[in-house]
Amino acid sequence: MPDKVKFTIDGQECLADQGVTIYEAAKANGVYIPVLCHYEGLKAVGSCRICSVMVNGRWMASCTQPLSEGMVIENDAPLVNEYRQAIIEMLLAEGNHFCPTCEKSGNCELQALAYRYGIMVPRFPYQFPRRKIEAFPGFLLEHNRCIQCQRCVRAIQTEDGRKIFAMKDRSKDIRINIDRKLAAKLSEDQIQKAMDICPVGAILKKGVGFIRPIGQRKYDRQPIGSEIEGEK
Ligand code: FES
Repeated sequence: MPDKVKFTIDGQECLADQGVTIYEAAKANGVYIPVLCHYEGLKAVGSCRICSVMVNGRWMASCTQPLSEGMVIENDAPLVNEYRQAIIEMLLAEGNHFCPTCEKSGNCELQALAYRYGIMVPRFPYQFPRRKIEAFPGFLLEHNRCIQCQRCVRAIQTEDGRKIFAMKDRSKDIRINIDRKLAAKLSEDQIQKAMDICPVGAILKKGVGFIRPIGQRKYDRQPIGSEIEGEK
């Protein structure tokens, strides 16, 4: 079996290692595919579908789909971009994302994607849900901004491997649920990790806010995706 897999993405001929996903193969070739539920080092769950690409005319989630020889992948294509725009707009309309007052503004992946895909106003009606904000020792959970990506569920555990974040209920009522007793044991570093891994402003460390001034925030300095596209 050859070590490398040949494929094309947006007409560009590429090579990647055996056993990688489409997302990983694209990244290795300097091609950016947006992700929200996926995070480097965590098991991919394929839930948000923002990373969807067209492969030989069929939709596939690139973060979970293994690459195979000869795949013809469409990524930066009108239909794919339109699909991604619709997902971003749905997420913006489904929750309460008031960017100007959000501590994650400028560091928020959803906001950065909205800029990248040129979204001004969602085509869907705003739902303005009434969701609570929960307080825990050391951090807040802002349900109005949660996009149910489950990164925190997969990433944050106690030292003995017990999960602190979990999913509760289903469909439109699905929410993050937190084990209060275990949450009280989270270290400062774990809280910071949870806040950093959250793609939006749903997990917020208490006692700090708006630390980086406008102009110095992550996506003020470079648009989302440019760190991968810059590796070409
Ligand atoms: Fe692939 Fe969410 S990033 S489905």
